[in-house]
Order: sequence, then structure tokens, then C-alpha cells
Amino acid sequence: MPVLSALSVTLEVPELEPGLKFYTDAGLEAASDGSAARLRCPGQERDSIVLIGGAERKRLHHIALRADRLEEIAERVPAAGGKVVAPPEGFSDNGLWVEDPHGMLIHLQDHPADPELAEAPAFEVNGPGRVVRKRRSAMLPSAAYQPARPLRLGHILVFSPDVAKSVAFMTEALGMGLADRAQDVIAFCCARKDSDHHVVAFAKSPAVGFHHASFQVGDPDEVGRGGRALVEKTREAAMNGDWGFGRHTIGSNFFHYIQDPWGSWFEYFSDMDHIDDYSLWTPTNYDMSDSLANWGPAVPEDFVHNYEADPIRETRAA
Ligand SMILES: [Fe+2]
Repeated sequence: MPVLSALSVTLEVPELEPGLKFYTDAGLEAASDGSAARLRCPGQERDSIVLIGGAERKRLHHIALRADRLEEIAERVPAAGGKVVAPPEGFSDNGLWVEDPHGMLIHLQDHPADPELAEAPAFEVNGPGRVVRKRRSAMLPSAAYQPARPLRLGHILVFSPDVAKSVAFMTEALGMGLADRAQDVIAFCCARKDSDHHVVAFAKSPAVGFHHASFQVGDPDEVGRGGRALVEKTREAAMNGDWGFGRHTIGSNFFHYIQDPWGSWFEYFSDMDHIDDYSLWTPTNYDMSDSLANWGPAVPEDFVHNYEADPIRETRAA
């Protein structure tokens, strides 16, 4: 069934401290040994974001994906324009390391599935002709809510110089499916069974780079509350950008994005489309007007800027 889900993103960064602060403010739990910081969702026993300090500026090191039948993947990689490579120095030799046609490093691991998430209370909406909530408020006073709690890493979006070529590699070599796309500018890949609408996505840019990692929270309110709280907490240290609360057309998820200290993004999401069987799904090629959002605030001007390819401004944390 090759790629099954997202495991983690590893970034090289100038300093660990701003990243530790940003991601713990976002609700992740941290461990740091001084040269690397490991960040995980509360309650999970594996890392979702790994930061390696000491780089000149932020750079995507690799993404890690959960997959099985790694031998079959290794056989298909060269024909799809990629390479099987040795583990980078200092990294685990478990699993399979490959480079995609643009040199993006991917670590495939036959990793156990995350435990099932506990069932959340239904998000009830009173609508025309459909009143499901009576004699009680949907909302508690805001102070009654706990800080946002990221439940799991859902997807990773990376930049690609040739989105169609990246998708061909993910589908032909790694056994993913094209969920949807918007022309040749952005494309979304899913696992072929029991998958979020997207696990890995690509946005066009002159070079490879990291755009965002997206974490599921309990419901749309938690996206809104968590996003607003992270904007407040990171106002001084991060690059100050945020985009949300809004809802994507492609994938249907509610979102709020907050910019990390190096110009890439952290997303809270809720209510993503689910593809239980890819053979029963038909991909759509959307107009660019639907590529970013169905509705939401104005898009920040650098939302799809690849700071790894073009550091147009110094990051505050560097
Ligand atoms: Fe996203």
C-alpha cells in the first residue's frame, strides 16, 4: 500500500530557540539536546517536527512518511526519476531514503500506525430546517477553553520546481494518489486507503523548500481560537504573518496559518475530506481562483514565497 501517512518534517535552522518557542507556543511538546529540537503532539510517542541548529538559514532537510513494501518502492524509484540514497550522516538507517527528481530527500519508514484518536463530541450546527441543539449554548466563555492541542501531523506542503513531475514521482514510485490539483501550480497527494484528502502537497516555486506542516485539532472553533492565540503569542518573535480563519476548497478543511520564525507556516486544521478508497475517488483540476481558499481573509503577500530559494528579507530569528 506504499505511503500511508505523514510522519515528520526535519528542518535545518540557524538557531533552535526561536523554533522551540514557536512550536511549543503552538501546542507541541519539545525535547532538545542543544544541537537538535524534537517536537511532538501531546500524547504521541514520535516526533512531528525536528529542527537541526547551526545552519546559515532555514532549509528543508527531509520529510518522513510512513510506508510499507519498501523493497517495491526502492525498485520503482529510478524509473520514476528519483534515486535511492544512503542515510544522511547522523540519521537512522532504518527504512528507505530516497531523493525525488528535484533532489528532495524523503525518509520512508515502515512505522507502526498512530493509535486511533478518541472520538470527539459532534460539532453541531443549527441550520435552516435542521435544529440539532436546543436550550443550550454551543459556546462556553472563552476562558473556559484549554489552549489548542495539536492531535497529529496531517500533511506537509513543499515547494517544487515542477509540480507535475513531483506528483508523478509520488504516484508512480511511492504509490500515492493525486487527490486534486489547481492547474500545474499546486497539487495534493493522498494515500490510497483511509487517507486524509492530502498527506503531501506541492506548490510551484523555482526550488525545493518547506512551505507548511498542518496539525489537526478538535473542531473548527479550536482552529479559530488556537490560531488567534498563536498570533498573539508570536507577535514579537515570529515573522508576524498569519492567514485565517478560513476554509479551503481543495480538501474542505478549516484553516488558520501562522508564520514560523523563518517565513514558512504552521497550520491548524479541522474537517479535512477523507478518501477511504482511492479507486472510488475522481481528482478535480480546479481553477486558480479556488487554489488557496473558498473563503477567508486576504492572502498574505508572501504566503507562497519560498524563502529557501529567495530570502527577500532577513528573518527576525536568524
Ligand atoms: Fe495545509
